[in-house]
Amino acid sequence: MTSYRGNPDAVRALVQPDRVHRDLYISPEVFELEQEHFFANTWNYVGHESQIPAPGDYLTSEIAGRPLIVVRHTDGTVRAMMNRCAHKGSRLVSAPCGNTGKFFRCPYHAWAFKTDGSLLAIPVKRGYEGTALHECESARGLTTLEHVRSYRGFIFVKVNDVGPGFEEWFGESLTSIDNMADRSPEGELEIAGGCLRYIHQCNWKMFVENLNDTLHPMVVHESSAGTAKAMWAGKPESEPKPMAIEQFVPFMSDYKFFEDMGVQVYDNGHSFTGVNFSIHSKYRAIPEYDAAMQAVYGPERTAQILGMARHNTVYYPNLTIKGAIQAIRVVRPLAVDRTLVESWTFRLKGAPPELLQRTTMYNRLINSPFSVVGHDDLHAYRGIQAGLQASGNEWISLHRNFEAGEAARGPAAVIGTSELPMRNQYRTWARYMTETM
Ligand code: FES
Ligand SMILES: [Fe+2]
Repeated sequence: MTSYRGNPDAVRALVQPDRVHRDLYISPEVFELEQEHFFANTWNYVGHESQIPAPGDYLTSEIAGRPLIVVRHTDGTVRAMMNRCAHKGSRLVSAPCGNTGKFFRCPYHAWAFKTDGSLLAIPVKRGYEGTALHECESARGLTTLEHVRSYRGFIFVKVNDVGPGFEEWFGESLTSIDNMADRSPEGELEIAGGCLRYIHQCNWKMFVENLNDTLHPMVVHESSAGTAKAMWAGKPESEPKPMAIEQFVPFMSDYKFFEDMGVQVYDNGHSFTGVNFSIHSKYRAIPEYDAAMQAVYGPERTAQILGMARHNTVYYPNLTIKGAIQAIRVVRPLAVDRTLVESWTFRLKGAPPELLQRTTMYNRLINSPFSVVGHDDLHAYRGIQAGLQASGNEWISLHRNFEAGEAARGPAAVIGTSELPMRNQYRTWARYMTETM
């Protein structure tokens, strides 16, 4: 067994230009190091501003194994800090979200902290006279995060100082978030429809790489989407498709469809499928919505916004979005073989209710714990997690459409069935995993 701790060369060797080693998915030590280094060195999504609209509103999360609070400070800005009391280390808040008022009060001995993390009050102060408390970290309050950025309501954080700034990290990939927000006649999104949480018995990377894997839908989803397709076969073109049929059937498109769809990769592991069109392109128009959009944007810009129907955009490493359907999935790694996936849906402000209905139906049919399509993928992930225990071949092939020198090429749009997005993810992984090792 290779030991990876303190051995960045061994970690780098897990990622070759056209294949990756199985320890990426099955080594508990690699998982621990990932939490410590990789997730701390990269920008990760923590929540949406619409979840914390008022001062004192907060949500809790965990990034890089660190418990975090994201809160709306009294001045209206969004702050992020470690969910750890400065006294003896108790978790400060345990609810997933809420309103704390003007300060957080520790449930253990009632130290209080303002919503910018500074220490507000300690009960019975006199016991600290003449001690060194005021000279140490504990008197400075909560550990706050320097790197917090909100982009059109999407809040991202980076725990460590290393690595690129926000714009440099995401670059042009932010156009997918732009398109999702631009689909609102008011240019704004808000979380609606609750959150569906789904534990996957697999490594988090399998889920993320599958989002831009277009060679699996026609195989893996034959049992679900194929059944819907068979049910609808023989119906006249003129018969309007029920929303569920409209959403299921494109998963059964052929290889040519997915090839022509195209995939765009960006630096730092980001990518999206659907450069030219996607499985969302043929959804039927909603006249009331089109009218609301045209009233704001005019016909040309409306056609441009709605014509951009990207499939999945991966904001590497922990956020994947579907702008055309206003749904996102957030990846929360729990263990080397356990990943929590949260599916959130959004309301397009100013759009008719049918849009949110389409979004939540998609989420239930495709992404949720009671979906029929999502379980197809889950079955595949579990199969990989089990299959990788085999001996004889320790490598995962990512050779499809590999070109020597592609790593230096920068952003590129290529054939939709290329495995370039995964190679791009793992090159990024190797770099930021070892940056602080
Ligand atoms: S641990 Fe928080 S006040 Fe003591
Ligand atoms: Fe799938």
